[in-house]
Amino acid sequence: MHKQTITREHQLGRERSLSLLKQYSDWQAVELHDTQVSINRNDLEWVSMDLTPVCGMPQESTAEPFFREVDTVEQLVEAYYQCCSAVQLEVGYLDAHVHSYANEFLNQIFDRAQQHLADQDARLIAQWVSDFDIYVAVKAVESLLNSEADLALLRAAAQQNWHVHFDHLAIRCGCSDRQHAEKLVKLLVSSHGYQAPAVESEVFYHFSDGWNAYYLFKILRNGLVLRLFIDQSEPSNPLQIIQHWNRVYGFTAHHLAMRATRISNHQHQEIPLSELTTAIKKQGVQVLAATGDYTHGLLEQVFTRPEQNDSLPKDLIEELKQVDPALVKVIRNGKLLELVSRREVPMKMAESYFDLLGINYDSTSQHHSCPYYDYFLPAQAAHVIRTSVQSLNHSASNRLDANVS
Ligand SMILES: [Fe+2]
Repeated sequence: MHKQTITREHQLGRERSLSLLKQYSDWQAVELHDTQVSINRNDLEWVSMDLTPVCGMPQESTAEPFFREVDTVEQLVEAYYQCCSAVQLEVGYLDAHVHSYANEFLNQIFDRAQQHLADQDARLIAQWVSDFDIYVAVKAVESLLNSEADLALLRAAAQQNWHVHFDHLAIRCGCSDRQHAEKLVKLLVSSHGYQAPAVESEVFYHFSDGWNAYYLFKILRNGLVLRLFIDQSEPSNPLQIIQHWNRVYGFTAHHLAMRATRISNHQHQEIPLSELTTAIKKQGVQVLAATGDYTHGLLEQVFTRPEQNDSLPKDLIEELKQVDPALVKVIRNGKLLELVSRREVPMKMAESYFDLLGINYDSTSQHHSCPYYDYFLPAQAAHVIRTSVQSLNHSASNRLDANVS
């Protein structure tokens, strides 16, 4: 007889599943998988979500000593470079295939910040990233200095008394024939303390249009869950954008995903995507096509309009033209901000989760947010990758914009 060990996280997943089934009649139980629920997506396809939480030994916020005393833009940039040299990152390990322009691109971001960023914003960024580990702090600083959209959310949150949570980073690797994603996963596990989820179906995502991705996470002592989405193209699809984006932009995060909560009745409550979108639009930031509305808030996602980058060198443009002339336009979509909303569990379940991690739950603590769902939905990931490529097309983005307003 098949013997199944019921772990504590499995029990929590089961409780979450029962809680949702009680609340919404359109969620369905999944036979033989009591931690899962399934729902009929708008296009009539059934989507299952595993509610087993990620669980691991909480670790230090290693970025804190670098960023805690940052007061000026200069100090923020200095802290960033100190972090880069304190740990092994991709540069010098995995970047042999990346064009030298990737480094110039980052230098431009930092030059621009030094000329235009206010010290007040530098403090806002430093304060936010000091709660992370070094890896995520480095990528988050690169992202926050790159676009107005990312900073706009931090500013909007400060006005509205929201807590802004790091949700995930997407790192684009090359093509899987070089095993770049596998090598990066190995580095992140062996040197940075990341781990793969215990739920087997969430370790590796394969997409029918020629790419794949690994999911890694790390739990910090302050209660924050760091999630990474490490993706790469497959040789079956030589035009697939990930490998070309990596060639041009290297390992800077393709996007930083943020979500927000407010404290209500002494616990975190998610800010719905529509509210996040409205707040960021008021700051003049445009958004693309939202997805995930059918999940009753379990995982809703939308990209803001990408920063356009026109500074590619001639040799790189020529190289891309050789692959496909259309790439030259698409690759101008640089880094993005993704807005995410993940529904929070009731307080008792949040308490049980943090208890399992060995963290004293404090419902009003900045990072003690506890979403029902910890993973990604491949169907939605395919959607967001498509919209990030389509966003140069005005008619598409305008139409998509209408969907989220
Ligand atoms: Fe994402």
